[in-house]
Amino acid sequence: MNINASVPVGVLGASGYVGRELLRLLAGHPGASVVFATAEAAAGERLEGRRLVKVEDAPLARAEVVLSALPHGVSGRFVHEARAAGKRAVDLSADLRLSPEAVYGLTEVTRPRVAGAELVANPGCYPTAALLALIPLAQRGLIDPEREVVIDAASGVTGAGRNPKRELLFGEVAEDFRAYAVGNEHRHLPELKAALDRESGFVGDVVFTPHLLPVKRGILETIHVPLTRLLDQATAEGIYETVYADEPCVQVMHGALPSLKDVVYRNRVALGVAAVANVRRPRLTVIAAIDNLVKGAAGQAIQNMNVMLGLSETLGLTC
Ligand SMILES: NC(=O)c1ccc[n+]([C@@H]2O[C@H](COP(=O)([O-])OP(=O)(O)OC[C@H]3O[C@@H](n4cnc5c(N)ncnc54)[C@H](OP(=O)(O)O)[C@@H]3O)[C@@H](O)[C@H]2O)c1
Repeated sequence: MNINASVPVGVLGASGYVGRELLRLLAGHPGASVVFATAEAAAGERLEGRRLVKVEDAPLARAEVVLSALPHGVSGRFVHEARAAGKRAVDLSADLRLSPEAVYGLTEVTRPRVAGAELVANPGCYPTAALLALIPLAQRGLIDPEREVVIDAASGVTGAGRNPKRELLFGEVAEDFRAYAVGNEHRHLPELKAALDRESGFVGDVVFTPHLLPVKRGILETIHVPLTRLLDQATAEGIYETVYADEPCVQVMHGALPSLKDVVYRNRVALGVAAVANVRRPRLTVIAAIDNLVKGAAGQAIQNMNVMLGLSETLGLTC
């Protein structure tokens, strides 16, 4: 491939929150250019200087890579059409994340598989942060499989998409804070557990409770990890530091914990740890922060696209 040429990219679902983020990031990408962008109700409108077309009218032949930010349940069909037209694709929806036909694109963990892939399933926003926190501990046999890993996570409202919903009106969410999909009902849980098993062999219970945070973007996860042996803070930080030493998109904090301001508008997961005092059995609290629209969606998709194309992995991204 000529690395000086700009790779033509098609964006499906470009008028949504994730699609807009893809257009924003691709506008600053020196090795890629958008050749078409689709919308449903917003078809015919202009965005980033481009007229949005219906997905059925997308000129697939013009693209080398298709990035799909279509809704769950719609995306898979159009990603298959792109593949049938011979295009490489990254699906940002949940449609293919549990399917063997796609490589799961958790870049830091599955990079060699992404590099050879024609089709990548981009991970969910909550699982991306949780998996980068849990896999290093699980791979070392540090998580006690007889006790539950508990993940309490809070996401900004863009996590729910741009389609109007009454429960997401400003008057409903402002100055409030609430849990949803309680009782392990969130669709990200099977994805998270499958990836944790595949990458580390850990098959213990995970309890995942998401919350709606009245901010636009960003996720903070408080992950309670039951340990097989005592770990002090420096040792735990040292594990993450070793694993992620050469990773530009993972920030390991020292003696500090991340908050949303460490990650918003960045293609980054920030991790911090705290040893837990006054408990009978060893435990670690890991705090993980991520921008749901960047490393949790559009940014990681572009990171994966760069790897698939043999481009510098962080081209067009600010980690
Ligand atoms: N939001 C996040 O934080 C996040 C993070 C990770 C992954 N994801 C995934 O990324 C995808 C996009 O999420 P989002 O939050 O950007 O959703 P969104 O804001 O609702 O955007 C959906 C996009 O798809 C288009 N669309 C809707 N129904 C369609 C249909 N039947 N046929 C063709 N196009 C249709 C919409 O066009 P109109 O605007 O014209 O209706 C819009 O461009 C979803 O699969 C979601 O699960 C989202």
